[in-house]
Amino acid sequence: MSDLGIVISLEGSPSTAQFSFVIDPKNGNGVRKGQYIQTKSEDGVLFGYVNEIVRANRYFERAESIAEYERMGKIEHNFPVSSWEYMIAEVRILGTYNEGRISRSSIPPYPGSKVAEADEDMLRKFLGFDENTGLEIGNLLHHELKAKLNLTKLLQKHLAILAMSGAGKSHLMSVLIEELLERNKESGRVAVVVIDIHGEYSGFRHDKNYGTKTKVVEGKSISFPFRKLSPNTISEWFPEMSIAGKSLLSKIIKEMKREAKDARKDFTLKDLNERLNTYPAKENIKDPIRRVMGELRGIHLITRRENPKLRDDVKAGNMLVFDLSDLDNMKKKRMIVSYIAKALFNLRKKEKIPPFLLVVEEAHNFATEKMDKYSNISKSIIEKIAREGRKFGACLCLISQRPVNLSTTALSQCNTHIILRVTNPNDLQHIGESSEGIDGRMLRSITSLQVGEGIIVGEAVKCPIFVGIRDRKSKKREKGRPLEQQALDFEETNEKKSRDVEAFL
Ligand SMILES: Nc1ncnc2c1ncn2[C@@H]1O[C@H](COP(=O)(O)OP(=O)(O)OP(=O)(O)O)[C@@H](O)[C@H]1O
Ligand SMILES: [Mg+2]
Repeated sequence: MSDLGIVISLEGSPSTAQFSFVIDPKNGNGVRKGQYIQTKSEDGVLFGYVNEIVRANRYFERAESIAEYERMGKIEHNFPVSSWEYMIAEVRILGTYNEGRISRSSIPPYPGSKVAEADEDMLRKFLGFDENTGLEIGNLLHHELKAKLNLTKLLQKHLAILAMSGAGKSHLMSVLIEELLERNKESGRVAVVVIDIHGEYSGFRHDKNYGTKTKVVEGKSISFPFRKLSPNTISEWFPEMSIAGKSLLSKIIKEMKREAKDARKDFTLKDLNERLNTYPAKENIKDPIRRVMGELRGIHLITRRENPKLRDDVKAGNMLVFDLSDLDNMKKKRMIVSYIAKALFNLRKKEKIPPFLLVVEEAHNFATEKMDKYSNISKSIIEKIAREGRKFGACLCLISQRPVNLSTTALSQCNTHIILRVTNPNDLQHIGESSEGIDGRMLRSITSLQVGEGIIVGEAVKCPIFVGIRDRKSKKREKGRPLEQQALDFEETNEKKSRDVEAFL
C-alpha cells in the first residue's frame, strides 16, 4: 500500500479528534473528500476519513505580487509555481483498531507519521459491515468495498429513507427488496409488505427472478370483512363521532361479535344497521352512527371478502405489494394502511406470520407530524409499531421526501437513517436535528450528493458513511414517460382518430 502523505503539525492538530496531512504529490493524487485513511499511534491503527482538502501555493498568496509578476509576463514562465503547490487533507479521527478491537482514540498520531489508504478488511470491521449475510446496497464511496449491512442492525430498530423527490429513494428501496427476496432460509428472511403509492413496485411481479416471490394487490380490489374491524379502529377512522356514539357503537359491535363467535357465523355492515334500528337508544345518538356507517359503505373497503388474506399472503422471503396508485381518496388510503399495519402487528404478536418489514412510501402522509382531522387514522399504529415493534420482529421502513412533515415520534424511533440528496434548507435542518451523528459539515455535503449517492447514519453502521447505491437487478416499471413522447403520442392518436372518421364518412 502506497503512502498518501505525512501528518503535519498545525496549531491544535494533530489531536485525538483530528489531524491534517500533506498529500504526497506522486502517490496521493487519488485522495478524495470522504475517503478513509489510516495512520499509526501508540494505541494501534488510527482510522479516520478525509473531511476536507485544501490546496495551497505560496506564489499566489499576495494579490499585489501576482499583479506585479503578471506585468512581467506569465507568472509560470518566470517562477517554478507548480512545484510550490501542495494539498492538505483534513481528517476526522473515527477510532483506533487494535487486535480486532475498536476503541475511541485517546492519543493523537505523531506529526511526521505516514498516512495510507485504509485497509479494506479492517475498514469492513470498523464500519460494522456484515460480509457474510449483509444486505449489499452498493459501494462505500471512493472505495471498492461493498457496503453490506447487517439485517438486524438495519431493520430491527426501523429504517428511514429521506431525500428530496427524484433523489433515488424508491430505487434504493428496490435494491433493498432484491436483497431481502434473495436471502436464503438459513440467513433468516423476513416478509416484505409494501405500501406502494405510485405503483412503482409492481414491476417485480414480471421479473424472472423475483416474480414468483411477489404478489401485487391493486387498491380497488382491497377489502376487509366488517367483523375484523375493532370498535377502536372505527372510532379512529371517524373521529367526528361523539363519545356517546362511539360507546354505543362499541357496545353493539362487541355484542354482535360475541354472538357471531358462538354461532360460528359472519356479520356485516347491513346486520349492524338492522341491529341499530331496533336497539333501545336515543335517535340523536344513533343518527351519527348511521351516517358513519353510510360513509364506510360508500368507501367500498368493507365487504364479505378478505383480499388479500394477510395470514396466507405474508410469507418469509416473499413480498406483498399494496398498489394504491389507482386510488384518489386519501382517507381511504389511510384506512387501508391503518388496517394492514394493525393486522400485521397483531398477527405477528401471535406469531401467525413471520417477522416482517412494512415499507411505507410517502410516509409523511400516513404518519403526519401536524395534526389534521384525519391524520390520526394511520399515524397511531405506525407510531406504535415504531415504539414497540422491535420486540416482535415488526420492522418499519419509512420513506419520505418531506421529513419535516413526518411524525417526530416515528422518525426518532427509526434507528438507521439513509439520507440521499436534499436541498431544501428546512428539511436539511430537520434531518440534522433528527439524525444522530451527523455533523454540520456532513449536513452541508448532503446538498451536493448526486442521484444514487447517500449517507447512512445510525444503528446499521458504526459511524456515518457515504455510499454509492448499486444498480438494480430487477425490472423497473416505467412510470414517467418523457413529456415529448406523451405529447407526440397524444397528437398522433388524435390525428389517427380524425383520419378514421374521415375514412368512415
Ligand atoms: N443508484 C442509482 N443508480 C441508477 N439510477 C438511479 C439510482 N438512484 C436513482 N436512480 C434513477 O433516478 C430516478 C429517480 O429515482 P427514484 O424514482 O428512486 O426517486 P425517488 O426519490 O423515489 O423520487 P420520488 O420522490 O419522486 O418518489 C429514477 O429514474 C431512477 O432509476
Ligand atoms: Mg419514489
